Amino acid sequence: MKNLTIETRTARETRLVGEVLGRNAQGGQVLALHGDLGAGKTTFVQGLAAGMGVQVRVTSPTFVLVNDYNAGHKMHLVHVDTYRLGNSTGDVLDDAATFGMDDFLDDPAAVVAIEWAERVAPLLPVDHLSVSLAVVEGSPDGRILCLHAGGPQSESLLMALAEHVAASKKLAPDQQAST
Ligand SMILES: Nc1ncnc2c1ncn2[C@@H]1O[C@H](COP(=O)(O)OP(=O)(O)O)[C@@H](O)[C@H]1O
Ligand SMILES: [Mg+2]
Repeated sequence: MKNLTIETRTARETRLVGEVLGRNAQGGQVLALHGDLGAGKTTFVQGLAAGMGVQVRVTSPTFVLVNDYNAGHKMHLVHVDTYRLGNSTGDVLDDAATFGMDDFLDDPAAVVAIEWAERVAPLLPVDHLSVSLAVVEGSPDGRILCLHAGGPQSESLLMALAEHVAASKKLAPDQQAST
């Protein structure tokens, strides 16, 4: 299974989707988050962090570009926001190199979650989980999450989420899966 669409009705449900993924994350995985300001990318990462066992509150890294959180099982969560990358040098990829993006992406103990990931698309491994969030029209608290797995590692993460959704009636009864 390479694609999964989930509709959430509250911020809490979006956090829960992230949390399920966080519980199943194993390190070396990359999550590329897409969606406008306010779509819910940071909300999703808060859930991801909770699922990984991060004990501190996850905030938006918009001004610091990257936050590194200790998680359980010798893993850590690297939360990157590329929104302001390139402001100083004019080159997004140069800035990403400066703060060690390549090292994070190569670290088998790191789960890397990147907001506005399209801005660093050339740096992303093919096998990443892409998560696109969009507001549901006419429903301010509704969001559509479109998830796509680029390879086997992210596919296993997506499978775990699909199984959880299938087993749970609380989360997004109208989710759809496709291959
Ligand atoms: N279903 C939902 N999923 C995620 N966020 C939601 C949802 N409904 C309302 N919200 C609200 O939308 C805002 C999303 O903000 P944030 O996660 O910071 O977005 P982004 O990081 O994409 O800019 C939060 O205030 C959150 O409470
Ligand atoms: Mg954000």
